[in-house]
Amino acid sequence: MTNVVAVELGDRAYEVRIGPGLIDRAGAEIAPLLRRPRVAVVTDETVAAAHLDRLTAALSAEGIAVSALALPPGEGTKGWPQFARTVEWLLEQKVERRDVVVAFGGGVIGDLVGFAAAVLRRGVRFVQIPTTLLAQVDSSVGGKTGINTAQGKNLVGAFHQPSLVLADIAALDTLTPRDFLAGYGEVVKYGLLGDPLFFEWLEVEGPRMAAGDAAARLRAVTRSVEMKAGIVARDETEEGERALLNLGHTFCHALEKATGYSDRLLHGEGVAIGCALAFDLSARLGLCAQEAPSRVRAHLRAMGMKVDLSDIPGDLPGPEVLLDLMGQDKKVIDGRLRFILARDIGHAFVAEDVPADAVLSLLRAAQA
Ligand code: GLY
Repeated sequence: MTNVVAVELGDRAYEVRIGPGLIDRAGAEIAPLLRRPRVAVVTDETVAAAHLDRLTAALSAEGIAVSALALPPGEGTKGWPQFARTVEWLLEQKVERRDVVVAFGGGVIGDLVGFAAAVLRRGVRFVQIPTTLLAQVDSSVGGKTGINTAQGKNLVGAFHQPSLVLADIAALDTLTPRDFLAGYGEVVKYGLLGDPLFFEWLEVEGPRMAAGDAAARLRAVTRSVEMKAGIVARDETEEGERALLNLGHTFCHALEKATGYSDRLLHGEGVAIGCALAFDLSARLGLCAQEAPSRVRAHLRAMGMKVDLSDIPGDLPGPEVLLDLMGQDKKVIDGRLRFILARDIGHAFVAEDVPADAVLSLLRAAQA
């Protein structure tokens, strides 16, 4: 079964197709977009080893010629050197403005290849085939593309919407449990920010989903994408509502920076910890009842996820340094600290001007 979610963006509208077996059907899915029968696929070595043969076979079966570039796996790829390599490779492949580039992999590949497509010949179309849970529910949808620099994450990039997203939930079967749960942090985020019934459903079905239940995975990915598609359609360039998708991210970015973007903390793990902290902060500021953060933590714990700062291996810098790292987040406006806070589960809002003292005392308590 394939679910289809439309991202309603006028003449740049596109579909997110979600279901098992989409990699094996990619040729038929992509063929209608092509003006000549060839695509350039950019992936990473891990995804290439697991799935590239099947994608190539599916494209070839429709008479589509494929050239492929496999970059090294990992967040370190998402910077200028591999970006330059990708753009130059695409030019060597003689990709033209009417052609389609395929981003085949997780969030790193989707963001980097999307950005390469945005600037190549002033913009070529691209298709996202996300293979991780995080990429399927978040980064492949909505057109945020970019790379990291020495100054921080995602500081260079462009809004460039894909022409199609194919989320093959069978690809999730090859993820490690850790990578799956990291992506699950983003799934929970949707319930927490705007859909209390979805969060309730996850409390019941989350464990089944993590264990591999395809129906639960299909429903969770579809609901997440529906929520993201709705928000993106209403606020493509993050003038307002789209900022809600950053629930947990201000804490997360500081923690990722403090741990050197290393294996100590995956992005989705940081999002989960950040969501728990955002609900703690909301309760401390009297915005929501203490039951809300307790319930968030209970669910993350039940899923076997990282929840507290002490779950991050190794030492962390003190509260002042963490606060300082938050100040470097690109979403800070005029030096004020901006957080996504919540009035309850499923009711998040953008809070400008959050007092630094409240954040500091929360971090002190969290590190005590
Ligand atoms: N990942 C947040 C956004 O797409 O806006």
